[in-house]
Amino acid sequence: MSTTTGTGGRDHEHGPILVTGGTGTLGRLVVPRLRDAGRKVRVLSRSSREAGEGIEFVIGDLATGEGIEAAVEGAEIIVHCAGTSKGDEDKALNLVRAASRTRTRHLVYISVVGADRIPVVSGADRAMFGYFASKLAAERVVADSGLPWTTLRATQFHDLFLMTAQQMARLPVIPAPAGFQFQPIDTGEVAARLVELTLGTPAGLVPDMGGPQVYGMAGLLRGYLRARRKHRPIVPVRLPGKAARAFRAGANLAPERAVGRRTWEEFLAERVS
Ligand SMILES: NC(=O)c1ccc[n+]([C@@H]2O[C@H](COP(=O)([O-])OP(=O)(O)OC[C@H]3O[C@@H](n4cnc5c(N)ncnc54)[C@H](OP(=O)(O)O)[C@@H]3O)[C@@H](O)[C@H]2O)c1
Repeated sequence: MSTTTGTGGRDHEHGPILVTGGTGTLGRLVVPRLRDAGRKVRVLSRSSREAGEGIEFVIGDLATGEGIEAAVEGAEIIVHCAGTSKGDEDKALNLVRAASRTRTRHLVYISVVGADRIPVVSGADRAMFGYFASKLAAERVVADSGLPWTTLRATQFHDLFLMTAQQMARLPVIPAPAGFQFQPIDTGEVAARLVELTLGTPAGLVPDMGGPQVYGMAGLLRGYLRARRKHRPIVPVRLPGKAARAFRAGANLAPERAVGRRTWEEFLAERVS
């Protein structure tokens, strides 16, 4: 395997690119884009999947570290998209420990806008917003890994709000955190940027990526209800704690980086009949 032969080469010139979370909402859009760029892809998953043209699957669990050494073996680049609402720091640690023993030349990480601005201090903060603390901790694991790295922070994906709205719309009355705003972004656009960064030079923390418009939580929900021709009262609920206060102050937004193009309404028009 040769390693750094430039970005124009085809997969026989490169080692595979490992995509953790390559089965997830974001990762499964990253994988075909890497294939379109002519790269061989290895996907890490906790369950077995059928291989495809230029795509192999390896079984491993980043929470326990099981199978991770085999997953990183020979991978020239790692795109770390695996994540859950808790414990992303530990997953990043297990990945980095294994990757440090290989010749990985670029580790790319997807984090969230506001990871460094949402204070997670009290029990209430941790219960509702612990995700942001774990993303920041995982960012630090990546930055301190000794591997060349790139981290992109994105705002919440349209898909996440769609899932949330679908669940909330089952309730007769929908509670919505008062004063919270969001800037949803198209997952495919984040995937495209991640691939661009992956095939580029390690760049450290790159500028945030935010969706084209900022909406109140109630506005997002109303957009969904309109698209589904449903009617539900939305009741504002004031959340306690410092993290919630930071949210009300817009710490999760990147209005100066509203680089996303597809709006929530356009997304809904395609996805919700
Ligand atoms: N969703 C958003 O709005 C948003 C916004 C900004 C940043 N992000 C970040 O983007 C990344 C991807 O988010 P997503 O929405 O695509 O997540 P997702 O749809 O929930 O997918 C999660 C992925 O992580 C993998 N995974 C989870 N636990 C794992 C473990 N212990 N070991 C190995 N793999 C594991 C899953 O693989 P298997 O189930 O196949 O094992 C799955 O592919 C996350 O890091 C998230 O924090 C998300």
